[in-house]
Parts: sequence; C-alpha cells; structure tokens
Amino acid sequence: MKRILAAVDGSEPSLHAARLAGDLATKLGAQLMLAHVCVPMVYPAETAWVPIADVERAAESHAEEVLKRAAAELRKQGIEASTLVLHGAAAETLADAAKAEDVDLIAVGSRGRGAVARVLLGSVADRLVHICPKPVLVVR
Ligand SMILES: Nc1ncnc2c1ncn2[C@@H]1O[C@H](COP(=O)(O)OP(=O)(O)OP(=O)(O)O)[C@@H](O)[C@H]1O
Ligand SMILES: [Mg+2]
Repeated sequence: MKRILAAVDGSEPSLHAARLAGDLATKLGAQLMLAHVCVPMVYPAETAWVPIADVERAAESHAEEVLKRAAAELRKQGIEASTLVLHGAAAETLADAAKAEDVDLIAVGSRGRGAVARVLLGSVADRLVHICPKPVLVVR
C-alpha cells in the first residue's frame, strides 16, 4: 500500500476517517493525501447576483481552510499529508481522483456535515462505495 486518500469535508467523522487513514499510512509507510471537493451550489432564481468568480474563490478558500485544519490536526499526531482541492459532484469527483492519483485506498467517514441522526450512511459515502474503482474504507 503506497498511497492513501482521505476525503475531508470538515466534519468530525471525516477527521476521524483521516486520522485512521493517517495511522494506516504511517504503519504501512504509505503517502497520505487529504482531498476536499468544492461542490457547485444551485441558487434560487431570486438570489442576489454575485459574480461567479467570487463564488468560486470563496469555495476554493473554504476548501483550503478545511484541508489546512485537517492537516494541522494530523500533524499533532506526527502525520504529514499533502492536500488536494477538487471541484465537482463529491462522490464522482472523489472516485475520479482515486483513479487518477492511483491510490490504493480511499477513506471516508460514514457521515459528514449534513449528518441527520437517523441516516447511517451519508449519500456521498454511499455513492462512493457504489462507483469507486478503488477500495473504499468507510469509517464509523
Ligand atoms: N465535499 C466533500 N469533500 C470531501 N469529502 C467529502 C465531501 N462530502 C462528503 N465527504 C466524505 O464523505 C463522508 C460522508 O459524508 P456524506 O456527505 O456522505 O454524509 P452526510 O453529509 O452526513 O450526508 P448528506 O451529504 O447525504 O446529507 C464524509 O465524512 C467525508 O469523508
Ligand atoms: Mg454531506
């Protein structure tokens, strides 16, 4: 196992998944990558007009912030990770990245930021398990 990707949306379950991926990477001598996907938002028609470039910049800097915080969290445990900002539909984009980066494993939390108590598996984790060509580790 040489490369492990952890998908981080800033939620506690995703950080938990990243920590576990970091432990595995350390034990196996693998590289760890943290990825966040900026998902395009759909605005109601009456939303005030905002230049698309501003929206994209805000999403990009949010992604960088999420990844920076996760990387700092892992560094406290002595784990170094590279970071990757991606754009698109979350599960599809993560599956494509897992393939493009030729990772051996992708780790996700079972839930994320949209956590609704009764949902056992979030839609991104669920979809990723269905479509990802690489092994997916769903962390509870
Ligand atoms: N935009 C994203 N970028 C990176 N990883 C993500 C993103 N969204 C979700 N994930 C990953 O998927 C895991 C599960 O999150 P998911 O979005 O499936 O659940 P949820 O937010 O609780 O539910 P839902 O999004 O269906 O309302 C997260 O812990 C994280 O690892
Ligand atoms: Mg979610």
